[in-house]
Amino acid sequence: MKSVPVYLLPVESNSYEVLIGSNLLQRVGQDLRQQIFGNPGNYVVITDEHVQKKWGSALQQALAGLPLHQIVIAAGEQHKTRATKESIEDQMLQSGIGRDSLIIAFGGGVVSDLAGYVAATYQRGLPYITIPTTLLAAADASIGGKTGVNTNMGKNLIGAFYQPRRVYIDIGFWQTLPKLQLQNGMAETIKHAVIKDLPFFRWLEKHAEDFSAGFTNTNLELWKKLACKNVEIKSGIFQLDEREQSGQRERLNFGHTIAHALEKASNYKLLHGLAVGLGMIVEAEISVKLGIARPKDAERLRALVKNYGLPVRIPHQLKVEDIITHTKHDKKSRHGEARYVLLAKLGQVGQIASDQGFVEDAIVRQVILNNQA
Ligand SMILES: NC(=O)c1ccc[n+]([C@@H]2O[C@H](COP(=O)([O-])OP(=O)(O)OC[C@H]3O[C@@H](n4cnc5c(N)ncnc54)[C@H](O)[C@@H]3O)[C@@H](O)[C@H]2O)c1
Ligand SMILES: [Zn+2]
Repeated sequence: MKSVPVYLLPVESNSYEVLIGSNLLQRVGQDLRQQIFGNPGNYVVITDEHVQKKWGSALQQALAGLPLHQIVIAAGEQHKTRATKESIEDQMLQSGIGRDSLIIAFGGGVVSDLAGYVAATYQRGLPYITIPTTLLAAADASIGGKTGVNTNMGKNLIGAFYQPRRVYIDIGFWQTLPKLQLQNGMAETIKHAVIKDLPFFRWLEKHAEDFSAGFTNTNLELWKKLACKNVEIKSGIFQLDEREQSGQRERLNFGHTIAHALEKASNYKLLHGLAVGLGMIVEAEISVKLGIARPKDAERLRALVKNYGLPVRIPHQLKVEDIITHTKHDKKSRHGEARYVLLAKLGQVGQIASDQGFVEDAIVRQVILNNQA
């Protein structure tokens, strides 16, 4: 046997900045003109039809004069597929987009997951930046480098870890978001508070009414603070465990074992954030039943979810046995057993049930039934 060593230089840093504010499209234009990402021959904007309609011309204006190629996909989770990825890639190839190009993901989480995945694999990798336009994407999807697509077998099953070069979070985009989409992002925001930051949780309790007013001249600073907190908390966690290897990143999945099962049981009719709100309530109560969390904390969490207009009762059409079965087929389950991130107290989650000990089906069943409409 012979052994030939392969020596590689250390990987270049994947670190990047997340800029948060208003009117940031101007800043994007400025950064590109100053060539802070090099001097790409082409900028490929990937967006969806809704974002294109509402904000496409603003982006065009901000980037006027730069060599832009625009690819507009159909909106919606059902289009986050390999087929859409292939169609984007074909359009890029036909337009002669080469390795000297930069991708701009302009949209919600569907766009950033897809565009990031195209960036990861197109001609073995192009740099990309993200401009999230939904609260959910700003809070969660656009940072952290998880990219990918769904298949018929489940969500996000094919993908890559691939970090953007910069993220531009402009709260102004949220003004055109339907209320349901804002609530969708609020659930992940509440999750961030619950898992890591009690003062932020209290702050959300205090401002529920201010936020329910949507966007007013007086609450922009609140929205900005909310955006910053989300980024601080999420990045504070995933930068310790970029590829979900040490268990740190898993904390971000609080509420998600049940949420994913509810989404699946509803055939994805239930929006992810709404499912996360319900999932957090159920998983907090499971933690109470296991003697890990205090009932008062679970009650405060339920009240906060409710005050942000999110549902707190599981639709009765969803069958409890289906929900339990789906928890066991989640991407994160091991040896056929569901894994739960358990609540310790508000601002802290930790213990993962399943490796240390299973959560009995009877407990999960009882908590689900208690919370069903
Ligand atoms: N990669 C990650 O770490 C991560 C994390 C969380 C979620 N996700 C993924 O994100 C996706 C969900 O993201 P989403 O909730 O942003 O969904 P989305 O991208 O489908 O956007 C929701 C809807 O809002 C529209 N929209 C977007 N911006 C708008 C605006 N400013 N005004 C009006 N309408 C606008 C979209 O066209 C779409 O119809 C899921 O696929 C989920 O798996 C990924
Ligand atoms: Zn989520």
